[in-house]
Order: sequence, then structure tokens, then C-alpha cells
Amino acid sequence: MAHYITVATTLRFVVLFCISLVSCFARLQTFKHPAKADGSLSLLVVGDWGRRGFYNQSKVALQMGRTGEKLDIDFVISTGDNFYDDGLEGVNDPAFEQSFTNIYTGKYLQKQWYTVLGNHDYRGDAVAQLSPELQKIDSRWVCLRSFILNAEIADFFFVDTTPFVDDYFVDPDHTYDWRDVLPRSRYLATLLKDLGAALRESTATWKIVVGHHAIRSCGHHGDTQELIEQLLPLLRANNVDLYMNGHDHCLEHITSLDDSIQYLTSGAGSKAWRGDVKNYNREALKFFYDGQGFMSLQLTRTDGELVFYDVFGKVLHTWKVSKDHHSAI
Ligand SMILES: *[C@@H]1O[C@H](CO)[C@@H](O)[C@H](O)[C@H]1NC(C)=O
Repeated sequence: MAHYITVATTLRFVVLFCISLVSCFARLQTFKHPAKADGSLSLLVVGDWGRRGFYNQSKVALQMGRTGEKLDIDFVISTGDNFYDDGLEGVNDPAFEQSFTNIYTGKYLQKQWYTVLGNHDYRGDAVAQLSPELQKIDSRWVCLRSFILNAEIADFFFVDTTPFVDDYFVDPDHTYDWRDVLPRSRYLATLLKDLGAALRESTATWKIVVGHHAIRSCGHHGDTQELIEQLLPLLRANNVDLYMNGHDHCLEHITSLDDSIQYLTSGAGSKAWRGDVKNYNREALKFFYDGQGFMSLQLTRTDGELVFYDVFGKVLHTWKVSKDHHSAI
């Protein structure tokens, strides 16, 4: 008798296990990255970079290496447009090594690079950038369309923003690799549903969302209306601290007058668009720089500090926030 009960129990366990497995697979893939022993976290953020070292890409890379050492960084985030002009041609495209492996050579840059795709990446073989084959060439490379990075005190939510932008679908100027994205409405609905669930479940002190396109920007492309309408409500509802992006080839920090999200553009990894700036609410715009550079982020359980640097490694802008008092300096 006892034997049959055991079988029934085991069967029930197997069925439950299968159900939870299925629901796991439907979710966004999650990576874990340990924080430092004292619980803190340091990282660099760079975007719009892959130009075989040209347009000051190598100079920015050199300074990232120096700052990376000073801050003892844990990892690097790329906000997309990893390879210009048209992404990679395939997994054997030499641009991967010419624009990534051979450029970011600093000792402290030999960490995981958590990476999203930009619109230029979709102009080539987008699937190639997601391929594990690239990790065999350079093990730092972690690129998925949308995923979660659980780094103890902080959860990072990487969002594939290119499929949100109408212009790339309506009379596009270029061809885009929409494999695994079409039908678009289903792709976006699933992504928003999974992201919403992940944000709600997150118990991390810091919630940080990363995409290629800006929600708020006073640079060349400006705000992304599709993201304001579809993505921003989720960020607001779930007390996201920072939204970090590239796309505009500049460095900028915008605060919102209606919520507590900081909007950060780090899209100055190589070619910059000097002088291309839109009028923006002066109260909301904390910092704008239209030359090359990158950003760092340091987090503890109670405090956050972000810094923007230029091509010489010079500090351009610093911003600090404390979780204890909800005060910004
Ligand atoms: C490289 O950076 C320097 C210093 O900001 C700038 O003067 C120069 O125009 C940049 N070069 C290119 C090709 O963008």
C-alpha cells in the first residue's frame, strides 16, 4: 500500500516539476553575478561603440580600463549598437574581434560584458550576436535580446527596445533581421508581460532597466514615444531607479519631474555627434555632453553613485543618491 502512495506522490511531483519547468522557460532568462564580499557593486556602461577602434573608440577603451581598475569593477554593460554600420555578418565576422576583443584589452575589462542589441545590430545577422559561438571566441560576451541579471543588491532588466520602434517597420530605410521577432505584436506583448512579472517579483534594493533606445533624451533622436507609452508605465509602477540606454551618441542625465527614475544615456563609445542637441526642460536636464566617453555606477545597499567620463578619463558629472533618506545630492 505504502508503495502505491509513494508512486502517486512521485508522479504528482513529476507533473508539478514539469509545470514549473514550462513556466520557467516562458520567463526571461536570468543570470546571477555575485556582488563583492562587502555587498557592493561597481560597473561601467558604454554604448554605440564597434568601429574597429576608430572615432576614439580605442581612447575610450583605454580610459575604461583605467577607471575599471580604480573602481575594481565587477562587470561591463553595453547598451547596444555593438557593431557598425550593420551589425555582424555572421558568427565568423572578424569585426567581432576587431571591434571588441582587440579593443577592450584592459585587465579590468576582462569581465562579463552584459549586452543588448541596438538597431544597427539588427541590420546585420542579429541572431549571430546571440550565438554561443561568440563566447568561444571571447568568453566575456553575454548578449541576449531580453534578460535579467541578478547581482544581489541590484536586479538589472535588459530589454530589447529595437522592435518597439515603428520607424523600423513602416517604410524602413534599411533591412532588419526580424527572425524570432515576428509577429511583432505578439513579441512585444510577451516581452512586456514577462518584464512586468520579473519587475514585480524583484526584491533587490536597486532596480535598473537597460535598453538601447532612450526613453528621455535631448540628443539627435530625442525621446522614444513608443517606449514612453509602452515601457515607461511598467518602470513607474515598479519603482525602477535607473533607466540606462545608448542610441544617441552622447552622455546625458535627465531626471523626471513626474517620477523618481533617472534617465541615463551612455552612447558615446565611438563616433559622437557634436552639436546635435534639442531644447529640453532645464529643470529635468542635469547633464549633457556630446563628445565621447562612458559611465560608471557604484552601488551599496544604501548608496548609489554614477559618474560620466570623457575620452581622457576626466570626470564630467557625478550624481549620488541615498536609499535611506531618498535624497539626491
Ligand atoms: C576624439 O576626441 C577628442 C577630444 O574630445 C576630439 O577633439 C576629437 O574630435 C575626437 N575625434 C573624433 C574622430 O571624434
